[in-house]
Amino acid sequence: MNLDLKNKILKKITIAIDGHSSTGKSTLAKELAKKLGYIYVDSGAMYRCVALYAMQNNFFKPELQEQLLVSHLNHIDITFKNNAASKSNHTYLNGVDVEDKIRKMDVSNLVSGVAKISEVRAHLVRIQKNMGLNKGVVMDGRDIGTVVFPDAELKIFMTASAEVRAQRRFDELSKKGQNVTFEGVLENLQKRDNDDSNRSDSPLVVAENAKVLDNSTIDRETQFKLALQWAKDAIENKN
Ligand code: DC
Repeated sequence: MNLDLKNKILKKITIAIDGHSSTGKSTLAKELAKKLGYIYVDSGAMYRCVALYAMQNNFFKPELQEQLLVSHLNHIDITFKNNAASKSNHTYLNGVDVEDKIRKMDVSNLVSGVAKISEVRAHLVRIQKNMGLNKGVVMDGRDIGTVVFPDAELKIFMTASAEVRAQRRFDELSKKGQNVTFEGVLENLQKRDNDDSNRSDSPLVVAENAKVLDNSTIDRETQFKLALQWAKDAIENKN
């Protein structure tokens, strides 16, 4: 292996991005991954897939059958593949493209019930750790800097006011033709904030050494430049 390539591999870092719902974590993570030539992993999509699987198999009737779902975890295969048409990563559940389905409100409303089950978390965390074995990964979620990659060289915690976040999400869903109200989106977001921050297993907290990024009033480009500089500094400082 030539020295340049060896140095490049040795200098690869792990970037963990956590934070509140609808703060633009995945947008920033994708932009960083693209710029650095790293792999991007949307860990929220994995929890959404498990929720969708439970819905498709009627495990929510009359309420979530937790043990039944846990006993099916090994039948849930989640993969990410680049979609040529949209030039973005799509999420596949047991070989079927579910990228649109997992973003719908019905899944959003049920996913935190699934994400609080310890066996589900342990199962997905194991897969996520494996994805990061060779470094060069940007992963976003709620427990990436605390549980999945506690040794990540760069940890970012993203936040913004609930109203700003709800407006962004409302605009996004409306553009996709989904029939939603601002109040409905705000309510769902506040419920998820509450669920994420108060669950007993791996609650959403600011990881030690994380850089807090409040983007209520800064634009996407400024934020990207700032995060890229953090990444470059972390790569430079890596032993
Ligand atoms: O980021 P998102 O909104 O797509 O996440 C969907 C749900 O999964 C949300 O309720 C938080 C939860 N989640 C989690 O508990 N841990 C993660 N690492 C990622 C997401």
